[in-house]
Amino acid sequence: ARIRRYKWKVDYSYFSPDCVEKVIIAINGQYPGPRIRAQAGDTIVVELENGLPTEGVVIHWHGIHQFGTPWYDGTAFVSQCPINPGETFTYKFVVPRPGTYFYHGHFGMQRAAGFYGSLIVDLEHGEKEPFAYDGELSIILNDWWHRSIYDQETGLFAIPFRFVGEPQSLLIEGRGRYNCSLVPSGSVAGSGDCVSCNSSNPQCQPYILPVEPGKTYRLRIASVASLSSLNFILEGHNMTIVEADGYNVDPVVVENLDVYSGETYSVLFTANQNASRNYWAAINVRGRKPATPTGLALLNYLPNPSSLLPSTPSPMSPVWNDFDYSLNQNKLIIARKGYEVPPPPKPDRQLIFLTTQNKVNGRIKWAINNITYVITSTPVLAALKYGLKKAYDPIPPPDYPALPFSISGPPANPNATVGSGVYTFQFGSVVDVIIQNANTLTPNNSEVHPWHLHGHDFWVLGYGKGIFDPATDPQSYNLKNAPLKNTVAVLPYGWVAIRFRADNPGVWPFHCHIEAHFHMGMGLIFAEGWDRLPELPKSVLGCGLSKYL
Ligand code: C2O
Ligand code: CU
Repeated sequence: ARIRRYKWKVDYSYFSPDCVEKVIIAINGQYPGPRIRAQAGDTIVVELENGLPTEGVVIHWHGIHQFGTPWYDGTAFVSQCPINPGETFTYKFVVPRPGTYFYHGHFGMQRAAGFYGSLIVDLEHGEKEPFAYDGELSIILNDWWHRSIYDQETGLFAIPFRFVGEPQSLLIEGRGRYNCSLVPSGSVAGSGDCVSCNSSNPQCQPYILPVEPGKTYRLRIASVASLSSLNFILEGHNMTIVEADGYNVDPVVVENLDVYSGETYSVLFTANQNASRNYWAAINVRGRKPATPTGLALLNYLPNPSSLLPSTPSPMSPVWNDFDYSLNQNKLIIARKGYEVPPPPKPDRQLIFLTTQNKVNGRIKWAINNITYVITSTPVLAALKYGLKKAYDPIPPPDYPALPFSISGPPANPNATVGSGVYTFQFGSVVDVIIQNANTLTPNNSEVHPWHLHGHDFWVLGYGKGIFDPATDPQSYNLKNAPLKNTVAVLPYGWVAIRFRADNPGVWPFHCHIEAHFHMGMGLIFAEGWDRLPELPKSVLGCGLSKYL
């Protein structure tokens, strides 16, 4: 195993990812951030300088467990204090498993400002994938707004609520195109935007995926979308899914792939179409009524020039609200034969999380069992480790929703309480969580929520529609080849059951990966085994009550 060292500086930077210029958060002047490529067992050392003049930063290594280094999980006020302007902080952690991962800012809505990049871990020397390919490609998907994250954030907390609206564009590896025809006529800001629309700026030329005819490629796909569920298509090519969230899955052939924020996949495809032309790689919004043009990259059959754009229309995805389609695709993801890791047969503890949209003092919030999470000013890890009882909510949040509840209309009790309680687990115990989706505050509306767990992978035991029945639904759990994942999408009016072993000493956020939803309280903290940890590095302390340590 090797040590891989990186020196990064985070800065504001002007970028035009969709040909419209705005200020983004870049690393070493790059967007997306530099790619980390390592081998399983390597140690990653990132020396991070915060060059933002007025705000703190942290970086979360999404999908990496941080076993033995929970303080480097990179979540502001959970694992560490934010890195102050001008300060340098060093992350140091092992990447134990091969797979497709990524990293992103985890403070406020910084991820949505472009603060992310990919992290790819190869097998150890001598190990082999159970599938073959000639070449490899990698993309991160994102949705993009022209308004700043500060503007978006302010709207989320405004009374009345101000929604930034659907994204202006969809980006593939940080590039897309804003569609000028969407600009309302007479809109001043809009027509200003449009000046740059047909620009030849290299920052918004379609990302190129070069392939040689006849060869087979592994394409790594991750989504850091703020809001949108995305559907990925390679025009004219089928794809075989082989990896999800770092695990080998049963190879299944699909024509298009739903990718939720926080998920990663690898697909194989063969460049076996008419080689005299190029093809679109495309993303469309699913799960919400789309109001954003298709995001396009170019599948470039060499030696065709990359300037040879397809004359075919941009590919279409299944209709946005065909949730049966989404559910069926989710169910295709199971562990690959020979690579199954069967879950423990029974949980030691079961939690049912009813996720609702609520109001607190007139502000719209998301809540779990009627509690909406607010960030503390002391990192929860330090609070637990050093018994800083005043730093968090000592009352454990409820394991079950109040009964009875209905999911078919807006919540009977629209009010939620604010909390920052922590669910604590017996070290090594097996925990089941059922995430129960519900109607929002708007009649006949329920949204998609991709839930992500830090520090662990979980088995996805089952999906269902309607209200989870604790008496009968567990009988249909997949205990044979349930996939291990770190993010799973809960579909409108449905539920998902997951199981994990609480065997990673530390404190771990479990939250909706939609940036605005987490920011509006849709998350909570799990903790286990913190008493086994050595002293925390001084560099993660210093804010809130941890300054007295
Ligand atoms: Cu990628 Cu806590 O998130
Ligand atoms: Cu959500």
